[in-house]
Amino acid sequence: MPDEVRHDSLISSIARSAENWRKQKFMDTPKIVLNVNGIEVIYNHVILVLKGVSLSVPEGKIVAILGGNGAGKTTTLRAVSNLLKGERGEVTKGSIELRGERIENLSPSDLVQRGVVQVMEGRHCFAHLTIEENLLTGGYTLKSKAEVAKNLEKVYAYFPRLKIRRASQAAYTSGGEQQMCAIGRALMASPTMVLLDEPSMGLAPQIVEEVFEIVKDLNQKEQVTFLVAEQNTNMALKYADYGYIMESGRVVMDGAASDLANNEDVKEFYLGMGGGERKSFKDVKSYKRRKRWLA
Ligand SMILES: Nc1ncnc2c1ncn2[C@@H]1O[C@H](COP(=O)(O)OP(=O)(O)OP(=O)(O)O)[C@@H](O)[C@H]1O
Ligand SMILES: [Mg+2]
Repeated sequence: MPDEVRHDSLISSIARSAENWRKQKFMDTPKIVLNVNGIEVIYNHVILVLKGVSLSVPEGKIVAILGGNGAGKTTTLRAVSNLLKGERGEVTKGSIELRGERIENLSPSDLVQRGVVQVMEGRHCFAHLTIEENLLTGGYTLKSKAEVAKNLEKVYAYFPRLKIRRASQAAYTSGGEQQMCAIGRALMASPTMVLLDEPSMGLAPQIVEEVFEIVKDLNQKEQVTFLVAEQNTNMALKYADYGYIMESGRVVMDGAASDLANNEDVKEFYLGMGGGERKSFKDVKSYKRRKRWLA
């Protein structure tokens, strides 16, 4: 075979395998449900809190937003679910898309209708209502009583503790039960995506694990997509597929959860494995070098 013919066939076979690889990659890449593009959030017209945050959440995955106090995790979730107005905050730059639709101007109830429900920080339950009454408040968008009953049974199947405590006033249940009640109430609306703010807050490690196990179950069995804000980096990385680390209103690092869990800087700053005083990413030059490697 002449040299140029061999060369041509080699080139076309490389092109074919590249095409196949691209197709394969496309098939393997799940659809993106949520896209946050460079958003800026200002509270009270003057306090700039989010300074260009971008993230995306693929369908059927658990994505974690990590970071310490005041990093901007809750603000990011509030921006997505349009709960900023009540806090005198607004998105002043960037865009937020749910399955390709711009959602910045939708109300929280429009979002519930599109399958997006937020479980707020601090496990807000109605203290004077029973666990079951609390759960029923989450089903207000459902059309039939049969659907309400079906969803209630589903919540009880995932949270057997709630079934036992169904008649107890929420105020007299434990922190873990209240967190479960808050998540259960969100599930009553049959969401496809749950924004979960700091589920570990104030709970004993064993209960945190129990809550995350249920999140994993819901993700795998009900295909619920989760965006979880967490200070508990260790636990979140154990259960999430992907993580974004925030500091002072910016995403400073992101990656597959397993890569983040093995990253030296993450171990040192967030998993308490480095010894010595905890630093922050912005103080460390080596972080920038590593970030280039990860990009
Ligand atoms: N309603 C508000 N008005 C003014 N500033 C606010 C308001 N809510 C939050 N902030 C400020 O925005 C910044 C980010 O807060 P945010 O609650 O988003 O952080 P976070 O990462 O959720 O922290 P935490 O882990 O403590 O919950 C903080 O500096 C906070 O003081
Ligand atoms: Mg918060």
